[in-house]
Amino acid sequence: MDLKKGLERGPFNDRQTEKLSNALSELDSGQLYWLSGYFSGLNYVASTVSPELDNQTIVSTTTVTEVKPEKINILFGSHTGNSEALAKNLAAQAKERGVEVDISDMASFKTRELKNIKNLAVVVSTHGLGEPPVQAEDLHKYLHGKKAPNLSHVNFSVLGLGDSSYVDFCQTGKDFDTILEKLGAKRLAPRQDCDVDYEEEAEAWQKIFLDSIVRTSEEVSNLENLNDVIAPVNGIKYDKKKPFEATILEKINLNATGSSKETIHLELDLAGSGITYEPGDALGVYGSNSPKLVQAVLEATNFDGKENVITHKGEKKLLEALTYDYELTPLSKTTLSKYAELTDNLRLNKILSNSAPVLEYLKGRDILDLLKEEPHKLSPNELISVLRKNTPRMYSIASSQKAVEDEVHLLVSVVRYNAFGRNKEGHCSSTLADRLEVDDKVKIFLDKNSRFKLPKKPDIPIIMVGPGTGIAPFRAFMQQLEVSEKRTPSWLFFGDRNFTTDFLYQTEWQQYLKEGILTKADVAFSRDQTHKQYVQHRMLENGKELYNWLESGAHFYVCGDAKNMAKDVDLALKQIIQQQGGVTLEKAEEYIKNLQLSNRYQADIY
Ligand SMILES: Cc1cc2nc3c(=O)[nH]c(=O)nc-3n(C[C@H](O)[C@H](O)[C@H](O)COP(=O)(O)O)c2cc1C
Repeated sequence: MDLKKGLERGPFNDRQTEKLSNALSELDSGQLYWLSGYFSGLNYVASTVSPELDNQTIVSTTTVTEVKPEKINILFGSHTGNSEALAKNLAAQAKERGVEVDISDMASFKTRELKNIKNLAVVVSTHGLGEPPVQAEDLHKYLHGKKAPNLSHVNFSVLGLGDSSYVDFCQTGKDFDTILEKLGAKRLAPRQDCDVDYEEEAEAWQKIFLDSIVRTSEEVSNLENLNDVIAPVNGIKYDKKKPFEATILEKINLNATGSSKETIHLELDLAGSGITYEPGDALGVYGSNSPKLVQAVLEATNFDGKENVITHKGEKKLLEALTYDYELTPLSKTTLSKYAELTDNLRLNKILSNSAPVLEYLKGRDILDLLKEEPHKLSPNELISVLRKNTPRMYSIASSQKAVEDEVHLLVSVVRYNAFGRNKEGHCSSTLADRLEVDDKVKIFLDKNSRFKLPKKPDIPIIMVGPGTGIAPFRAFMQQLEVSEKRTPSWLFFGDRNFTTDFLYQTEWQQYLKEGILTKADVAFSRDQTHKQYVQHRMLENGKELYNWLESGAHFYVCGDAKNMAKDVDLALKQIIQQQGGVTLEKAEEYIKNLQLSNRYQADIY
């Protein structure tokens, strides 16, 4: 490698080039590699942590880069598999750089091992409302408890996964980052909070983290090729960044006339995509904004849409950017914060200083409400800068590829509501309901979910609780069982509002029962009687039998609404275990936790 030639292309004068090339020519490739990491660390700290750092502060960060290339421990806490995949990718990259790696999910990790850890990478998502995923619960609790150890021998960094539409964005990552520092550990690289579009940020964090650890004798050329060797998180051709344009083959509203709901069954053509999926996986779908809402935003900001704006996808006309590249609904906390900061708005800043009022403010509002209630003269680029990038919505797949081959089926509940004087709709569900028809194309990609899968062994009983669109993956399960001609005891709990209008895929379930593919079905239609009845009521009525199924090794699946249903189902399960097993609440919780940790209680909730 000709160093001098390389330096001549850089921003140096002749004298500097000469001096640098003399100094660097004495170094071996390992030393050059070390230096490259050193400068990248300095550059990172200076540009992203605190742009105002003075030289002295930058020098003080050199301790960060002086860590020896010792073994790293990677701990991940994942629910749907994203953090797990990223942790595994980090492990692969570290190994490729010659670093010894120990990787473990947080639930299997023995806390007594903490004393042997030198370098620690934490990759963890957030679930519930700002809570750790089940896998991370115990470690999270232990580190926050009285028995937490001193960790001054540990260097660490945290990669948090989350979704910025939640108020407690990446809360668990933040918790680990704070508590590790409090326990004396030294932060090697700043925490990275990742949104649903996490690949780029995760990759950047991974590089910074590994650079801060790895000082081995790898060739400098390896570093130059770093981007080439980073493996994709999963090996599929089409992904979130490069979605496949699938043709809509079929679109049917499954709710009968007179229903208060609108649930669309969609069949998409995957031919030529190379996408292969399994029951339990999800499909990411990109929506667009309604032309009416885009027009109203343009009017509220006094633009005509022909203005040029710089977007993350290059220069575009404002109209196009607002329609396809950003989200106008719902209003996110990040957008609210950016707008409050940009406009120096006292009222909004006050709302933002506490989480309860923020939640209250965000509820039912979109960007148009904000622009109208808190008007401020913005430039087109300023408007773009506060908006959230168009983010795909995930839908549980409602088909088995073994049965439908080149197709993928989805079940989409259309979101419509009235708030702050206007009729509003969900960004993606209204795209599918109102703006796309059969033969149109929709941008999609596969989102694997290794944590929602049929049992590996064929004869294990399955209990499926899936009210509303939660029924989708269970249709996929049934199709799979039907095609593979496997028969195992299977029990469905389904619920919706009214029997006559809302029994999704009713004839298919009846057929599965008739053929013996489905052993048992219990349904609850909440509005068919005066007292509301839900799936959890059916579970409780069948408590004894349900408990017997669990005792005989059944897997328990729940899919659908996270806010109420999944909690109620969990509560009912706890009650059943307490009553039928004759145990305390504590023991019932332990029973459930063991089911979760052994993958016998799988949840796909949203
Ligand atoms: C039911 C549910 C609740 C969630 N709650 C939060 C939350 O409170 N804060 C957040 O930042 N992300 C939240 N998320 C988003 C997840 O953290 C995000 O999807 C992440 O990529 C999942 O990573 P994992 O597959 O490793 O669990 C939630 C996701 C689901 C499905």
